[in-house]
Amino acid sequence: MGRLVVVSNRVPAPRERNQPAGGLAVGLRDAVRGTESLWFGWSGRHTSQSKDQTPKLDTHESCTYATIDLTRSEYEHFYENFSNGLLWPLCHYRIGIINYKRLDYQVYREVNALFADQLAPLLREDDTIWIHDYHLFPLGAKLRRRGVKAKIGFFLHIPFPPWSVTRVLPCAEEMLREMAAYDLIGVQTAEDASNMNSCFEANNLPARAAHFPIGIDPVEFGEQAVRNVMAEEVQRLHASLRGRKLILGVDRLDYSKGIPERIHGYETFLNRYPEHKGETVLLQITPVSRAGVASYRALRRELDEMAGHINAMHGNFDWSPIRYLTQSVPREVLAGFHRIADVALVTPLRDGMNLVAKEFVAAQSPDDPGALILSSLAGAAPEMEEALMVNPYDHEGIADAIHAGITMSLEERQRRWQALHRDVTQNTAANWADRFLDMLRETERQE
Ligand code: G6P
Repeated sequence: MGRLVVVSNRVPAPRERNQPAGGLAVGLRDAVRGTESLWFGWSGRHTSQSKDQTPKLDTHESCTYATIDLTRSEYEHFYENFSNGLLWPLCHYRIGIINYKRLDYQVYREVNALFADQLAPLLREDDTIWIHDYHLFPLGAKLRRRGVKAKIGFFLHIPFPPWSVTRVLPCAEEMLREMAAYDLIGVQTAEDASNMNSCFEANNLPARAAHFPIGIDPVEFGEQAVRNVMAEEVQRLHASLRGRKLILGVDRLDYSKGIPERIHGYETFLNRYPEHKGETVLLQITPVSRAGVASYRALRRELDEMAGHINAMHGNFDWSPIRYLTQSVPREVLAGFHRIADVALVTPLRDGMNLVAKEFVAAQSPDDPGALILSSLAGAAPEMEEALMVNPYDHEGIADAIHAGITMSLEERQRRWQALHRDVTQNTAANWADRFLDMLRETERQE
């Protein structure tokens, strides 16, 4: 069998332990482990001239990482404006904040063409190519135009809305036509697959999307969690709680994650259940993300203000109800934090999957597991029915779920956790990749 060629905008640094936050790099890294592969993408660096570069190669274990630099202007129009100022909110159903400019779309296509120019010479005939995420929708079509005959699959890690929403995008038809170059498109949920296929059908294109929910490596994360309970940071956190219940939120600083809505829910909990005042701490870890995009900067200001307000209104001289951090925390320390948390709050307004929910389950102790509060609008929800399900817009519902989570009997926590753990263990990142790639290799090319 030939190599697996993975293409994504973000490529994990082969030897770095502290990888960038975000589901794609984490899930995929677990998936390619042990497979002969080439991983191609952006280096994360800038250059003054992107056209005549040669990709930098770095081989680590079974994978060769090939990366290219982008100019500052490409970064701005392709990554910040078109990918994250337009496609991201559109796919998360936030058409009120999208910002379309023809120049951004033009540069988005140019960067996809640059990826194709740089990648094509590295390809072999028997490779299987797997392209990831919304930054690279047109890449398959651009590779075909350069004569690539190999199987090309695409996976979208974020939600995909129905045609009634997608058609807001002025270039939607052209983008869908180009996406028809893929032999198979994977999305996270049955709803996303049916939405995407409805878009193809509305444009008289053959449907080719199917759902393959992504997972994690639960054994590795679980072991990290057990090991790191003794880590200095985790011990310090534990000691600082002084017996209070720990409610944990871990998200990139992104408006799709529903963090203000969650904090509002926590405040409602403090008001509605005053008997628990002083007994809980919400630790919200929110590494800054995409700070060049205006909507992200606005969210940061809003969260700074909300966290300050809650602590000032509800806290006491020896207790702050919320600890809000915008720095990133190493993954293994996070695993330890997950292990000692009593409740995880995973309440995105929309999310492709949300691997934090799965990581929390993998990290918990079977003897005394915590409760998972999960948004019904996360892609993980159909698989994780035993979580305490909430509508993330319903702050009173979040308050009630926090109360239910911290007062739940050991028996019920164990029963729910066992069911959740079974799913997390069955559907791992490696199984996910195998299922997608098996189907891709079996798919006949539709011209
Ligand atoms: C999500 C996206 C990924 C992205 C990650 C981090 O998980 O699906 O494609 O890499 O967020 O975002 P960033 O903009 O930092 O790459």
